[in-house]
Amino acid sequence: MAGVSNAPFRLVCREAGAGLLTSEEIDARALAMRNAKTEALARYLPDERPLVMQLLGSDPDVLAEAARQLEAAGADGIDLNMGCPVAKIVAKGQGSALMRDPLAAAIVFRTLRKAVERPLTIKIRGGWDEHTLNAVEIAHVAEAEGVDGITVHPRTRSQQFTGRAPWDIIGAVVAAVRIPVTGNGDVRSVHDAGAMVAATGCAAVMIGRGALGRPWVFRGREVTREERAATIRRHCALMETHLPERVALVQLKKHLAWYSEGLPHAARTRPALFAARSAREVAELFWALW
Ligand SMILES: Cc1cc2nc3c(=O)[nH]c(=O)nc-3n(C[C@H](O)[C@H](O)[C@H](O)COP(=O)(O)O)c2cc1C
Repeated sequence: MAGVSNAPFRLVCREAGAGLLTSEEIDARALAMRNAKTEALARYLPDERPLVMQLLGSDPDVLAEAARQLEAAGADGIDLNMGCPVAKIVAKGQGSALMRDPLAAAIVFRTLRKAVERPLTIKIRGGWDEHTLNAVEIAHVAEAEGVDGITVHPRTRSQQFTGRAPWDIIGAVVAAVRIPVTGNGDVRSVHDAGAMVAATGCAAVMIGRGALGRPWVFRGREVTREERAATIRRHCALMETHLPERVALVQLKKHLAWYSEGLPHAARTRPALFAARSAREVAELFWALW
């Protein structure tokens, strides 16, 4: 998740039991041009592996160059983002806009397939809108071009993140291809994950928002208050150690706000938490709620 799934967050998810981690979306052109901020997105901690790195782009050659760079940097797999709904991104023909042109998508898959040796996967939506539900068509094209796996977030681009994710579309993709399909959308617990596997036959389940403020979701069991506190402390320490100071402060605020959800007085404290000027101040405000 862009702005969220950086190395410290990924590592706490791994330590809680996540089987496979994915980076934030990484702009292929910026990476190919060696932009320093973009290169920072591709940094990781060794214990995160296996780690998939996700690319955002539309130009096949630029994507191929960026994919080679990520593979050389240690990515265990390369994933192509075909789901991002953000207007600025789709205006460039990237993210979910790639689903609108299966022929162009085929060329992207073919070029990427030739560029990297490690597993190549794609992450798609149900389609662009309710009139163009073409997840199955894109999945067929991907399989034919040698893509190794597909993650399906079945909402359309028009739905963004609203309404219930229509899991039947995941089932339709599972039935259409032989490569593994990962289901995604509205999984908040191990119970939900089991329900998704039962309903769709998917080979794996991806959790996004369900891990925000609760990376222990990957444990698949109830966790004690002490275990939760230890995870939060560990996450804070990782952010302070591994992120540049200004980035760490922004990230601490975001993640501690998520961790505070449901705690008494959390809503009242949140403005002060976001206004805080130092990591110490943020931590003090948070632990006073805990
Ligand atoms: C803040 C945020 C950032 C996201 N960034 C990405 C991204 O960079 N790449 C991607 O494939 N999906 C991204 N997504 C979509 C999620 O991966 C996922 O498909 C979607 O949220 C539905 O799954 P969930 O119900 O488990 O969250 C993002 C979602 C959120 C909320």
